[in-house]
Amino acid sequence: MLKTRCVQANDIFPVIALAYDTLPERYNPSIFNQFYESFPEGFLVALYNHTIIGFLIGIKTTTNTARILMLSVNNNNRKQGIGAALLTHFLIEMKNQQVTQVELEVRTTNQGALEFYKKQGFTLRETLHQFYQNGEDAYSMRKEL
Ligand SMILES: CC(C)(COP(=O)(O)OP(=O)(O)OC[C@H]1O[C@@H](n2cnc3c(N)ncnc32)[C@H](O)[C@@H]1OP(=O)(O)O)[C@@H](O)C(=O)NCCC(=O)NCCS
Repeated sequence: MLKTRCVQANDIFPVIALAYDTLPERYNPSIFNQFYESFPEGFLVALYNHTIIGFLIGIKTTTNTARILMLSVNNNNRKQGIGAALLTHFLIEMKNQQVTQVELEVRTTNQGALEFYKKQGFTLRETLHQFYQNGEDAYSMRKEL
């Protein structure tokens, strides 16, 4: 059975492993603990039968704005609504916290994620040149809540 919930201490290692497997950026593992300690409401995991198959990390950037920093679903579990479930959970949590605008960046080459965010009501704002460590460009996207 699929479930999404806020992260717990025991989730951190499997989340780091999933991030390593599925995201091109190489994050220092300590940042996952930092997000867990500083804003656990924005750090969500998706579980199938108690196994972590996806996660989302978002933060509040001002009283009324939030930013999604990472969103990932295990390769074998994609296109089954898990990304949408994590995002919906995050948007509800942010709305409860008076957030009116959610922003994110996505690689201009990441067609799947672009389609995903468009379908979830995010709109393209601008191109951010050489945004990523490897020099790739990003689109910034935004959704009003
Ligand atoms: C982007 C990502 C999180 C989507 O998660 P997901 O669980 O597969 O998404 P969902 O099943 O909830 O998809 C909902 C809709 O988004 C769109 N979508 C999702 N993946 C897509 C793809 N690869 N190509 C085109 N559209 C896609 C579709 O419209 C889909 O609806 P459909 O299944 O009816 O066609 C997932 O593909 C992923 O982890 N990618 C690698 C990491 C990444 O790029 N993260 C985002 C940038 S940080």
